[in-house]
Amino acid sequence: MSRSVEFYGGEDRNAYIHRAWMRRGVPDHAFDGRPNIAIANTASDLSPCNTHLDEVAQSVKNGVYEAGGVPHNLPMVSLGETTMRTTAMLWRNMAAMAAEELLRANPVDGVVLLGGCDKTIPALLMAAASVGIPAIVIPGGPMLNGTFRGRPLGCGTDVWRLSEEVRAGGLSNREFRATESSMIRSRGHCNTMGTASTMAFMAEALGMTLPGIAGTPASDSRLLERSHATGRRIVELVHGGVTPADIMTKEAFHNAIVALAAVGGSTNAVVHLLAIAGRLGVDLSVDDFDRIGGGVPLLVNLQPAGQHLMEDMFRAGGFLAVLREVRGLLVEAPPTVAGRSLLDELEDWEIWDSDVIRSADAPLQRDAGIAVLRGNLAPAGAIIKPAAATPGLLTHTGRAVVFDSVEDMRARIDDPDLDVDADSVLVLRGCGPRGYPGMPEVANMPLPRKVLERGVRDMVRICDGRMSGTAYGTVVLHVAPEAAAGGTLALVEDGDLIELDVAARSLTLHVSDDELAARTVAARLQDAYAAPTRGWEQLYIDHVQQADAGADLDFLVGATGPGVMRESH
Ligand code: FES
Ligand code: MG
Repeated sequence: MSRSVEFYGGEDRNAYIHRAWMRRGVPDHAFDGRPNIAIANTASDLSPCNTHLDEVAQSVKNGVYEAGGVPHNLPMVSLGETTMRTTAMLWRNMAAMAAEELLRANPVDGVVLLGGCDKTIPALLMAAASVGIPAIVIPGGPMLNGTFRGRPLGCGTDVWRLSEEVRAGGLSNREFRATESSMIRSRGHCNTMGTASTMAFMAEALGMTLPGIAGTPASDSRLLERSHATGRRIVELVHGGVTPADIMTKEAFHNAIVALAAVGGSTNAVVHLLAIAGRLGVDLSVDDFDRIGGGVPLLVNLQPAGQHLMEDMFRAGGFLAVLREVRGLLVEAPPTVAGRSLLDELEDWEIWDSDVIRSADAPLQRDAGIAVLRGNLAPAGAIIKPAAATPGLLTHTGRAVVFDSVEDMRARIDDPDLDVDADSVLVLRGCGPRGYPGMPEVANMPLPRKVLERGVRDMVRICDGRMSGTAYGTVVLHVAPEAAAGGTLALVEDGDLIELDVAARSLTLHVSDDELAARTVAARLQDAYAAPTRGWEQLYIDHVQQADAGADLDFLVGATGPGVMRESH
């Protein structure tokens, strides 16, 4: 018996209640066992990257009706990356939990997941994995290319670049401000290879979208066409009883990690994929990103690693044209939501602009994987994206300049008396899941003005937080355990020598174990950690896991499934 029939079928009082209140234009045959489809819709005026999703939802509805199903718009918790304080990541798990419970509580048989901005697709996939009903993702798509004075402007990436130019004295504040509406010129999510673009591609690599849809610009007619097709397909998927766990296997995650490297995707994908895998019981570890992604060539010439933007990538052949180039590194995974395996889908895709999408024998870089570092400073791991770093800094030893919080860093970074030079290693702590809370994107901290003025544009930076997928630099991030969870990071002092050796995969604090044992965590650092006394923040810091476990809440790991036994009345 389908889930919706469990609610609507029969003659008793509860079935009456479930049916009767739904009769506001819903026909009687909606209750006869045909697939009832939720459209998990993250449209919100305060998630600017997702505002167009109501129109997408309408196309899904049309497709669902056409295939004989019954669609229901189901508004979700929506997270705007640039609008929310302290960081949208603080609510990824809340959005996932709310979506999971809403899907389980309601009379639906399948779901179409509408996401866009960074955290929305991860949260929806975590939820769908834990509920276990058939699901298909529609990525909302990127904005059109921005340009300013004839050159492309990339969302995020050029904010970091231009703001450093202002600080270095090369650009006026007036000119900086004039770039705003040239950068953000249409509906859709960030048009760089940031987290939103990356997670759209991850959803497709995992098999959870119709093939070829990820990366379709938000304002392209083909997004609505594919959304209509998705509406039709989810009805078939419900009839076939195919669940997210049937699709997102370890092999699918293998392919996602290869894809992540080939497109030069965001480091944020590491925590999101680990969290999704945790819901499914798929045995994925942070080391898999290094093991599987190592040696995969970077083929996509997009900001922040390259030059172009998402609209160019779509025009150049799109995501599956990229994957076709690395198909030798992919493994056979179960059929995608469309019914064929990802490898079978690759046949029809070609590269139309080889400057934007490189062939495997002429890559942008030979090795685009994410490196996982260990050592006394990161026993549970830290990561770095060498493709976004300065090659000469990948092996580097320098004196630590330590900041206890983002506020401390902002207050002192431009101080002419700060004891820092280009060889120093900037350390920012208190920014992990628990300490901040929510693990904000602050690891790509600005360089000290006096170093910038000497023309230096990169330094080694180390942080227990994350960095925007649109950012670049020699940044070691996701240090685990974080300072606030007892990590060695809390014991680093100004002047300590820190050695980064990416080739050896090591991150070492050159302070003896004895001396570390004698050190205590400074009171001013402990004062900088978040100390909520109620509400979501308290629940979050009491239960959030470290970055190497995807920063999910401990009690949300795994799946409850779709069953609900008890009635409401
Ligand atoms: Fe929404 Fe970048 S801010 S995708
Ligand atoms: Mg972000």
